[in-house]
This record gives sequence, C-alpha cells and structure tokens, in this order.
Amino acid sequence: MDPWDQAHGAASAEGPVARIMYASQAAIRHSVYQEMERIRASAVKHNEPAGIATALLHQSGWFVQWKEGPAPALQKIMDRVAGDVRHFDLRVVHRSRGPRLLSGPWSMAIVQCGETPADMEMRVQQLKHQVDEGLQFSPAAVWRRLSTPMKHPGATRQQDPDAFQRVLVCGASGMGSFDLVAWLGEEHQVDVVHRRFAGAVERDVGTDYVDFEQEGRVWRVIAMARHGLHLPLTRAFIPDYSHFVLLLSIDQERNEQLLQRVLRAYEFLPHPPALIGVVSRPEMHALPAALARRHGIPYLRALADSRDPQASWAEVQPLLMHWQQAANSSLMSGTGGMRIGQ
Ligand SMILES: Cc1cc2nc3c(=O)[nH]c(=O)nc-3n(C[C@H](O)[C@H](O)[C@H](O)COP(=O)(O)O)c2cc1C
Repeated sequence: MDPWDQAHGAASAEGPVARIMYASQAAIRHSVYQEMERIRASAVKHNEPAGIATALLHQSGWFVQWKEGPAPALQKIMDRVAGDVRHFDLRVVHRSRGPRLLSGPWSMAIVQCGETPADMEMRVQQLKHQVDEGLQFSPAAVWRRLSTPMKHPGATRQQDPDAFQRVLVCGASGMGSFDLVAWLGEEHQVDVVHRRFAGAVERDVGTDYVDFEQEGRVWRVIAMARHGLHLPLTRAFIPDYSHFVLLLSIDQERNEQLLQRVLRAYEFLPHPPALIGVVSRPEMHALPAALARRHGIPYLRALADSRDPQASWAEVQPLLMHWQQAANSSLMSGTGGMRIGQ
C-alpha cells in the first residue's frame, strides 16, 4: 500500500474531511501545460504533507479545482491559492464534509474544445445560482456539469439535467471500447467528445464519450483506456455509472488482468456499478463471473463478439434498461447530501 493510501485511504482511521470546489478565470500568458506543471510542483510540495488531495481542470480559459482534506490545512492552502495572480474571479461552487472521494493527491485535466470562456462562464453562473438557492450537487456532478455538460435536449427537459444514465466501457485488449463509442456516435448522428487527463506520474489517459437518446432514455456511454482506471479522478466518478461494460477477449489472461484493475478501482466503494461481461462463448463468463462474485459485485452476462460494436450493443443495451434513474441523480440525497434548508 502506498503511503498516501495508508494515511488517507478508505481503510485508514481518518474521519470525514472538508471538500471544496471553485471555478476561476485563468490569467495565463504562457503555455497552459507548463503553468499546470508548475502548479503541480507546488501542490505536490505543499498539499501532500498536509493531506490535501486535489484535481485541477483547465478548460476554455477557466480553472476548476476540487480539493479535499483536513479543514484547517485546506483553508490555509485556499487562502494562498486565492491570492495567486494566475487566476481571478474565483467562485466557490461546492462545499461539503464527508469521506474522501479523491483517492490520490493529484489529478489534472487540460481540455481543449471549441468553446469560448463565455460558454464556461454561463455554466459557472447557472451552477452558482442553483447552489446559492440551496441545491447541493456532489463534487463529481459539479465537475461534470462544468467540464462535460450533457447537452442532449432530452436531458435538459428533466428537472435535474445531470440525472442521465452513465455507462463506462473498457476493453480487455485493443480499442474496442473506443470503437463502440464511435459506432454509437455514427448510429445516433451525434459527435463523439474526446478528453485527456493525467495523474501524478502516469502518461495521459484518453477517454471518449457520446450522448444520445434511445428507448426514451438519455445515455452517456464513456470509453476509458485500461490504464486510466486507477487514476484518482477516474475512480471518483465510478459510483456515478449504472454499469461497467467489459469487452472481454478470447485471451483469459487479459480478461483476468482487466478484472484485477477493475477490482482495484472498485476497492472500498459502497455501491459499485454492476459489471456486464461481453464474450463470444458462454463458458468464457466463468472466470470473470467467479472473480466478481468473490468480491460481491453483480456480474451480468452478454453473449456477442466484443469486437463487433453493433452486436455487443444489441446484447448489452437490454441489460442496461434495468436501472432506476433516481439512483443515479447527482443531487446529494442518497450519497449523504441534501437540499440545504430542509
Ligand atoms: C488554479 C491554481 C491552483 C493552485 N493549486 C495549488 C494547490 O493545490 N497547492 C499549492 O500548494 N499551490 C497551488 N497553486 C499555487 C499557489 O497559488 C502558490 O503559487 C504556491 O502554492 C506557492 O508555493 P511555492 O512557491 O512553494 O511553489 C495553485 C495556483 C493556481 C493558479
């Protein structure tokens, strides 16, 4: 176990921590990447010893930062960060107390997309308005609403625009999960969104997602690279998926490797999403099903060639329909939050 896990992991004796998120406008004159690297160096130096974990996003001229840790240390670092001339117009969009959701000291994402700072500002304003009205969103929902908002008209009709079904897909080998997302994009004539992010020392992780409506339901299907599963930011979002689809291979060793990664990422989650294994022969379910059962995780069986997106989706989609929309709402009800003032 690494020292961070020992001191702050879910198995440690540490109690609840303070959590804060803010958005601020970036004032960076040089390369964003270089500046983020400088911020990372400061954060690793100051945050880690103080038990502060953070995830930092740069997107469309804005920073979004999620921080967790002991309240006094968090306040001290926030005071220093607030005075930094590399950003201004800092707006706090989340405050709560509870278990740690970030499983490591540092994550970052630099998102390049066609949006303007004004697009981002509008989302910050909308969110801040709802927060000021007393609505409390989980940190993952705040991040999602600012960085990867659901724009599908079907979802914006709902009272909580974040209450759509999210499904994670990962392949045991090859790029099958990305092929599935690309196929869904073509099938529903919608754009695929590409994102990259990074942990403390690892190479970047790519992820693609697509939003669409099918069977009267709004979906987001997200493809994730295998080596991204253990990143703190990835893990923080896992409880928000209804299911995790595993496109398995004919090579059982690779399947086992993927299952082990998934089980590590699931460690200590109170409500891990059900797994759906996709294999071409029924007997190939035996190994992943046994591993999942041993860890108390539901495992659903789909029979299709996992390299064929159309055939895989035809088998997986009916299994995904057994899902209660309310269970995945971003409003912090079941997860320890509430409507403030109630
Ligand atoms: C958006 C943003 C986020 C930052 N986050 C942190 C942080 O989490 N921890 C930290 O020590 N410094 C952070 N900084 C940098 C601090 O403002 C400050 O420059 C730094 O802590 C100074 O310490 P140093 O000179 O010892 O590196 C951040 C700066 C910006 C612009």
